[in-house]
Amino acid sequence: TQPEDFAQRTVIVTAGPTVEAIDPVRYLTNKSSGKMGFALAEAARARGARVILIAGPVTLDTPSGVERVNVQSARDMLDAACRYAIDADIFIGCAAVADYRVATPAEHKLKKTPGSTGLTLELVENPDIIATVAALPARPFMVGFAAETRELERFATDKLARKGLDMIAANDVLAPDLGFGSDHNAVTLYWQDGDSPRHEALPPATKRTLAHGILSRLMANFSAKASF
Ligand code: C5P
Repeated sequence: TQPEDFAQRTVIVTAGPTVEAIDPVRYLTNKSSGKMGFALAEAARARGARVILIAGPVTLDTPSGVERVNVQSARDMLDAACRYAIDADIFIGCAAVADYRVATPAEHKLKKTPGSTGLTLELVENPDIIATVAALPARPFMVGFAAETRELERFATDKLARKGLDMIAANDVLAPDLGFGSDHNAVTLYWQDGDSPRHEALPPATKRTLAHGILSRLMANFSAKASF
């Protein structure tokens, strides 16, 4: 049986990729499966939380008892995140949000231009969802993810500070058989304890086991902050 340590808490989890329209039938996206975010949503629910799962298009079933909000683009995800964040205690940003979107998606299907051998798409930066929610006046406890291919600690702690997060879970996406699409993962958690940087490595495990490990550390840090 699970501890009910998340009872009375509302947890938002973002998960999966976002899709950014090029025209009515084409889009830009990424390889996120949504599995880590769905595992976190399921684990938080099992521990008594009300869970709102804001998901990009993925093929996963909604965990039992979880409220799911389906979105497509980063801007849709931002709207949903801000709408639900007002009532939330904890926000876990696990989505792989597209950094860029097409500046002006075409209204009709793009056609090849005779005589031309290329096409240039103009991209503009998407809003940073987690940083935007972290900057709200009454913000939830904020947990981010950092998928890195090198210098895990430096990039993760930089994101922790720059995005105004309480905790970040970093994983090495080049580690064989872990991360994207896999049922397994390993993360190192980073947070600030007053002025001291702290970290804790959670070893390779199923995303389900890892989700519970992340939630246990999260609740310890959340309780420490809430008791101030
Ligand atoms: O900067 P980077 O994309 O590596 O940061 C990853 C973290 O920031 C994740 O928690 C991700 O969900 C969040 N993020 C976001 N909005 C973006 C980009 C990233 O919420 N536009």
